[in-house]
Amino acid sequence: MSDSSSCPIPLSDRWRWGSRQAISFLMEQGVDNPDILTLGAGLVDSETLPVEEVGQLVADICSDPVEGRAALQYGSTPGSPRLRAALLKHLAALEGCTPEELGISANQMLLTTGSQQLLSLLCEVLFNPGDIAFVAAPTYFVFLGTLAGVGARAIPIRSDEHGMVIDDLDREIARLAEAGELHRVKLIYLVSDFENPSGICLSAERRQQALAVAQKWSRQQRILILEDAAYRELRYSGEPIPSIWGFDRDRQHVILAQTFSKSFSPGLRVGYGVVPADLAGPLADRKGNEDFGSAHFNQHLLARALESGVYHRHVARVRRAYTIKRDAMLAAADRYFSDIPGVEWVHPDGGLYVWMSLPTEIPTNFDSPLFKHATTAEQVMYVPGYLCYTGPIEERPRHQMRLSFGVLEPGLIDEAMKRLAIAVRKFVGT
Ligand SMILES: Cc1ncc(COP(=O)(O)O)c(C=O)c1O
Repeated sequence: MSDSSSCPIPLSDRWRWGSRQAISFLMEQGVDNPDILTLGAGLVDSETLPVEEVGQLVADICSDPVEGRAALQYGSTPGSPRLRAALLKHLAALEGCTPEELGISANQMLLTTGSQQLLSLLCEVLFNPGDIAFVAAPTYFVFLGTLAGVGARAIPIRSDEHGMVIDDLDREIARLAEAGELHRVKLIYLVSDFENPSGICLSAERRQQALAVAQKWSRQQRILILEDAAYRELRYSGEPIPSIWGFDRDRQHVILAQTFSKSFSPGLRVGYGVVPADLAGPLADRKGNEDFGSAHFNQHLLARALESGVYHRHVARVRRAYTIKRDAMLAAADRYFSDIPGVEWVHPDGGLYVWMSLPTEIPTNFDSPLFKHATTAEQVMYVPGYLCYTGPIEERPRHQMRLSFGVLEPGLIDEAMKRLAIAVRKFVGT
């Protein structure tokens, strides 16, 4: 008899393509190592999480047996009609128009398990292995893993202080068209507000230009823009910039992904997408195969939060708290890093991150001497910048760090930055 216990499990290519993503390691570090001061994990500020508000909302839902039962029942795959209606109003306020002027129906809104699920569903319905998505360099590293997981090719496009350089994108698509590969081009991924990791906003001009490029090259098939607006409501200074989605008047090219994770609570895992009418069905089909609906109770809770004004009061409070933290991090960067030659950082108007570049001879990778020293001797952690680029590791920039001001309170942000500067100084000029 053969020993079946030694037979390997025949895992799929999709598993292999998407395996070993850094996000899980980073989340574990943040949660499992309470002694490390973490500037790494993208967790939100615990102090401002809406514990009392959620307690009251739960009590309100459950005090009405009819609503309580409805909320505790399965919902529909695209999500609660009540929350979708409330979100149309909310989106209209963000877009500066009336819900009617949005020019969409509630059917074009899909409620998902965090916005991450929308990103993932979209990749599932759009990409065959070898199809192409354009991403900014650097960009949100979890999405790079999602693209890898479906075998998509992520082509990086240079970014400057105004976001992705759209002229470069145009040239790259022209090159692919020349090579007969235009049919492979499916998606342009843009984190329009306070990009994770760089904190940069795509300028209004570039937003319009990106849409024009997607329209221009939609010859054989439509090229979509995924506008990931996860940090849209976390602006602390400067004027809001109209969304790319808002410029797309015929609602054909842009998928807008937003989330309650950063502005209310990531633990509720509710995100939403507004999608072209002919994409709503395919996404719902896919979602039907995965979970046939995200947490229905949480959708009821958020509908109540929006309808009652609890949500808006909370976002205002969160913004005030993060403004203080952002300022604490920037002040600490000035205090501890400004005299280290070759160190630069972005001053973000919102979001959760400060993007710092070290002299190119100081790598920041997981296996770099700096990362080891910072996490052991100095007990401070950051996200190594190379994770936010695509392509062979040896060819990626390796001297940058994403520093999150989300988790720590202002005093500890200062302490963490001080420790990080001590660690960096050890390697300057080596
Ligand atoms: C740019 C960006 N998009 C999407 C997400 C996904 O967030 P969630 O699934 O919690 O909505 C995140 C989370 O950090 C993010 O930074």
